Amino acid sequence: MTQDEMKIKAAEAALEYVVTGAIVGVGTGSTVNHFIDLLAGIKNKIEGAVSSSEASTQRMQAHGIKVYDLNDVGDIPVYIDGADESDHYLNLIKGGGGALTREKIIAGASKKFVCIADESKLVDVMGKFPLPVEVIPMARSFIARELVKLGGQPVWRENFITDNGNIILDVHNLEIMDAVKLENDINKLPGVVTVGIFANRPADVLILGTPNGARTVYSK
Ligand code: 5RP
Repeated sequence: MTQDEMKIKAAEAALEYVVTGAIVGVGTGSTVNHFIDLLAGIKNKIEGAVSSSEASTQRMQAHGIKVYDLNDVGDIPVYIDGADESDHYLNLIKGGGGALTREKIIAGASKKFVCIADESKLVDVMGKFPLPVEVIPMARSFIARELVKLGGQPVWRENFITDNGNIILDVHNLEIMDAVKLENDINKLPGVVTVGIFANRPADVLILGTPNGARTVYSK
């Protein structure tokens, strides 16, 4: 089975978490794109969606799924999104697609965060995937120096601007042993908008696509 087929297995299993008659939070990425295509099949059973990126908004609207502004809705029962890495506590690295800030906002506004991924994303220690950090453009060099002090090797994601008009630094060579601490340490640097560690608000459920179908993982 290909990696993409495993992503589809995870996306299919996530449909069961969608609450009838409610708003669903929708993330960003190739796994979520499969979820959006499947959500289109039950669009008449939901009120609509809130979206974590312009890309996901466009894809949902093309399917005729109503997309609401987060300011116009209350608590969201379920948020479905992918990840670049997850550890066994369901702490995540996200932001490979650059949508980490809006993803973190919707995850925070949602009662349940269901993460969908192929099985390669579950790791013992996060950090092999370069950690995305969204930064206000004028702070780029300053934040890069601060990230070096924290032990990383930041690389500017060139020719990329986030939906919020900011830049991304991808931090290589990290071994994330204390995800909450690193999330807090990077978040407090002035000029950082969001760090792609989701540990203060980890996923509640991780659905992994495997060659044998979907496997649900709960925090250790
Ligand atoms: C986007 C993300 C994605 O969820 C993450 O990059 C995983 O993407 P994919 O499903 O394509 O592997 O955080 O900002």
